[in-house]
Amino acid sequence: MGEIADAVATAVDELSRRLGRAEKESVEKGGLTPVEVQALRVECLGRSQSLVTFLLAQLKAAPKDQKAVLGAIVNRAKTDAESRISLLEERAVERERRERVQASAVDVTLPARVPPVGRLHPLTVVRRRIEDAFRALGYEVADGPDIETDWYNFEALNFPPDHPARDEFDTFFVKDGGEGRDRLLLRTHTSPVQIRTMLAGKLPIRILIPGRVYRKDAIDPRHSPVFHQVEGLTVDEGITFSDLKGTLAAVFRQLFSPRAKIRFGPTFFPFVEPGVDVAVSCVFCDQKGCRICSGSGWIEIMGAGMVHPKVLANGGIDPERYSGFAFGGGIDRIAMLVHGIPDLRLLFENDVRFLDRAW
Ligand code: PHE
Repeated sequence: MGEIADAVATAVDELSRRLGRAEKESVEKGGLTPVEVQALRVECLGRSQSLVTFLLAQLKAAPKDQKAVLGAIVNRAKTDAESRISLLEERAVERERRERVQASAVDVTLPARVPPVGRLHPLTVVRRRIEDAFRALGYEVADGPDIETDWYNFEALNFPPDHPARDEFDTFFVKDGGEGRDRLLLRTHTSPVQIRTMLAGKLPIRILIPGRVYRKDAIDPRHSPVFHQVEGLTVDEGITFSDLKGTLAAVFRQLFSPRAKIRFGPTFFPFVEPGVDVAVSCVFCDQKGCRICSGSGWIEIMGAGMVHPKVLANGGIDPERYSGFAFGGGIDRIAMLVHGIPDLRLLFENDVRFLDRAW
């Protein structure tokens, strides 16, 4: 055999070895990538400088009498290479499909992703505890509008138009001008619901009124222009001051501690007579004196008193026959005390790190 025949034999061998290497790699890797197969195709079958173009060039240069034999060898080598590369290509496509399926598969054995669940705001938790304590004593929960008339918020509660007691309750007027029932404001306390309930005409009355109230206060750790109160009103025949004291003592023992004590100090609200400031014994230091009670052993928590006869009359109730007591205090303050929350603003800023605690 001549030189050309040797070159053809060597190149056919090399082509077969090259394909053999690729097939081995394909088996090991579970398939080549389409890019690898494409590179292999160029290397073996490409139009310039591939092993097959080399073989075809040899064939062209071969002596006439060898062309038939060498042509058959080269042709077989070429079709063999084409079919082997096609097979590798199929494997590559299969591998790609398999990987795509695996990547998008759902693993049903993984634990489910639990969506974040909200929880009750600490103020809601405390409000409900207060409501439950009073419901157990036969109270019903009532509410009223946030926007009130001057008459319900002040006048009917025995604050005459220019009375200095109104200063403490300075507020936001929605519709100023005019008097009494024409003047609208954001209620400064829950007490107007006392009048609304009395005028509804059902006796005896035993209601608890939680709700949002508004005052022209600057924001600081203990003040906010929007806050929450809880009010109570009892009206019946023969209600006395000791009923007030007994009721509050029972509820405070339940809310704060079984050893909680209660202290009344004289004060003034136009709608009660007598009026009292109610303090509860400090449950944080057992009355030894601490930062929370400012060393006094007592924490002032609400205002209260016997319903003023004029207020009963404004509510359409005969003060000669009926008497009653009322009390009102801040839910926010009670929540701060119960949970040791140092700053009122935490209750309104809605920072999830705060809200997400187990209240
Ligand atoms: N409404 C009063 C306040 O906002 C509290 C209070 C209610 C006092 C009922 C006495 C009786 O300060």
